[in-house]
Amino acid sequence: MSIYILGIESSCDDTSAAITADSKVLANVVANQDVHKNFGGVVPELASRAHQQNIIPVIETAFNIAKIDKNQIQAIAFTNGPGLLGSLLVGTSFSKAFSLGLNIPMIEIDHMQAHIQAHFIEDNNKKPPEFPFLCLTVSGGHTQIVLVEDYFKMKIIGKTIDDAAGEAFDKAAKILGLAYPGGPLIDKLAKKGNPLAFKFPHPQMPDLDYSFSGLKTSLLYFVRDRLKENSNFIKENQEDICASIQATIVDVLMHKLKLASKQTGIKEIAIAGGVSANSGLRNALLAAKENLKWNVHIPNIEYTTDNAAMIAISGYYKYLKSDFVNQKIAPYPRMNPDKFL
Ligand code: KG4
Ligand code: ZN
Repeated sequence: MSIYILGIESSCDDTSAAITADSKVLANVVANQDVHKNFGGVVPELASRAHQQNIIPVIETAFNIAKIDKNQIQAIAFTNGPGLLGSLLVGTSFSKAFSLGLNIPMIEIDHMQAHIQAHFIEDNNKKPPEFPFLCLTVSGGHTQIVLVEDYFKMKIIGKTIDDAAGEAFDKAAKILGLAYPGGPLIDKLAKKGNPLAFKFPHPQMPDLDYSFSGLKTSLLYFVRDRLKENSNFIKENQEDICASIQATIVDVLMHKLKLASKQTGIKEIAIAGGVSANSGLRNALLAAKENLKWNVHIPNIEYTTDNAAMIAISGYYKYLKSDFVNQKIAPYPRMNPDKFL
């Protein structure tokens, strides 16, 4: 008999519910929040409110798609952190009530581990990564190179010291007058632009660490100076600016990932998180597959940005270990070092 898990994700600005049967996804429903579009970033108070409005309809839709009854669910898995506290509380509180109501166990999931676990969702067209592998986890809040030794044995060997890669995309988009989230918009415009049109500095960081805050500042000054000469500069060069910014971010990400592969001798390489949807990054990984003989793992688009399928699949692997939590559990807003070695 299959093990059915209900997964809940509410850490930032996507409310999502998914139902898995063992490692297969039966339903994965995501409600995005349009309320943040004109603010250049997520407004925490608005996010919590939207989660509270969306959570029940999203879960009901997931049950309708999966065509199973709530009494068939064996456990509920939920994101317990890191994320916005008010947003996390919505998913955590729902999970406590659901667990009590149905008398089933609760499983807490770390959001950053779950992005990586998404690679273990069953897919007939893909093989999951083999341990040990390196995962470049790139999202709106985090940028990490993770050495993954087992499902829950993960070590961060490189990270950003300031902005995350997704934040770099979003902040660049804001400077260019694009809506939030800017990453997908830059990606779309970049496809029609010349990545060599403009040069932006690459940060010089030691070891496997990243820094993206300088890129935002250099774009800001670059645009300010060009606008003095031509008030239509952004409009006339939008595609080339986007292509050049994207190429810079991808180059910086790939440079340290290649270094990590060289240092560890690991050629089993995955990407995860919202920025792993980026076409430039995906192409760079495919190029490395050819040139460096990497075995690459690129998630399906629906499992790149925040989704509950990744929470449910992590829940499935924890369920197999009977790794449950009780009603005293409370969300954590920052990265929990206990989850990583
Ligand atoms: O993983 P995610 O959905 O949420 C967090 O955990 O942060 O990542 C969201 C981030 C945003 O910064 C968004 O702009 C970026 O992922 N993103 C992209 C693309 N799609 C989403 N960045 C670049 N290119 C994309 N196609
Ligand atoms: Zn995420």
